[in-house]
Amino acid sequence: MNEAFLRACNGEAVRPVPVWLMRQAGRYLPAYQEVRKKTDFLTLCKTPELAAEVTIQPVDILGVDAAILFSDILIPLECMGIGLDFHEGRGPVLDPAIRTEQDLERLHPIDPDADVSFVLETIRILRKELGGKVPLIGFSGAPFTLATYMIEGGSSRSFVNTKRMLFESPSLFSRLMDLITEVVFSYLKAQIKAGAQAIQVFDTWAGILTKEDYNRCALPYVTSILKGLEGLEVPFIYFVYDGGHILEIIRDSGAGVIGLDWRTDIETAISRLGTDVIVQGNLDPCALFLPEHELRARVDSVLRQGRGAKAHIFNLGHGILPEISPGKARLLVELVHELSA
Ligand code: CP3
Repeated sequence: MNEAFLRACNGEAVRPVPVWLMRQAGRYLPAYQEVRKKTDFLTLCKTPELAAEVTIQPVDILGVDAAILFSDILIPLECMGIGLDFHEGRGPVLDPAIRTEQDLERLHPIDPDADVSFVLETIRILRKELGGKVPLIGFSGAPFTLATYMIEGGSSRSFVNTKRMLFESPSLFSRLMDLITEVVFSYLKAQIKAGAQAIQVFDTWAGILTKEDYNRCALPYVTSILKGLEGLEVPFIYFVYDGGHILEIIRDSGAGVIGLDWRTDIETAISRLGTDVIVQGNLDPCALFLPEHELRARVDSVLRQGRGAKAHIFNLGHGILPEISPGKARLLVELVHELSA
């Protein structure tokens, strides 16, 4: 098995540098589109054989060093008692949104073995099918990011309902966060028991918080989850999108690997966090629109900066875009391996 990714997560300066891409299974791949033609996104997530098939596609097509479970961060929320739907072009819709005491009362914890058995079964299939190839990453949304989807009822620009609850009804907000934290904890524990070999926690919207609010209202919940799972001995990657202003506190989460978006270059991150840090990232996803020689120079720059860290896992600074050609994504993986050999 190709252990490069897991070794880097554990702090080894592996050469060539391991690489995988956030959202590596998805619409930019014609093979994914083929599967999606036959089924809607939620059904795909809930059908283990199909979810496993699309998880493996980028491993075979791109040659990445890790697979990430095909699912979505919003899946466990549906099991808590909120409706979930994905509308073409409009993104996710959670209904009814959680804004009041009464709304909160309708929610409940989940029993992963019963409620998300399809996710656990996907993981078991994948461990068998990936056996000799690459490790499998499981994942979850972080409590704050999941709370924004529940409170806003979907994606948002201003997050006014979330911040309003945070400031106007702090005890309601913290009870919602406690419940989501319990769900994420049991969900990740079940993924690890089913065979996930590393975990990435996505905190896509924590960057909307000030340093003080992040420290008080988002970080402690992540920390308590990671603390609770410590004994299971899998590496944790914590990715906060647009988290440059809170980098030093993100490190306090207890995650072994810090995922960086493209705004904070790795050099700067290291100067702030120290050379003992293990980083993942962080090529601008739009750099994949560049011609080959310019892409090569950017990849080389990210790799050069990554050499200053204790260990580096190459990734994009956010998910790959549907507009990217699979050939370019494959070229990226080849360049990372070639330039870091
Ligand atoms: O990385 C992977 O390949 C694994 C699968 C994965 C998906 N979503 C599949 C998906 C992962 C890890 C996610 C995480 C996720 N989902 C995040 C955090 C990461 C990030 O991007 O910051 C968030 C915020 C979501 C919520 C979500 N899911 C949105 C807002 C949308 C709609 C927007 C869009 O891109 O269409 C989704 C849908 C979604 N999740 C798709 C895929 C492949 C597209 C579904 C389709 O139409 O086929």
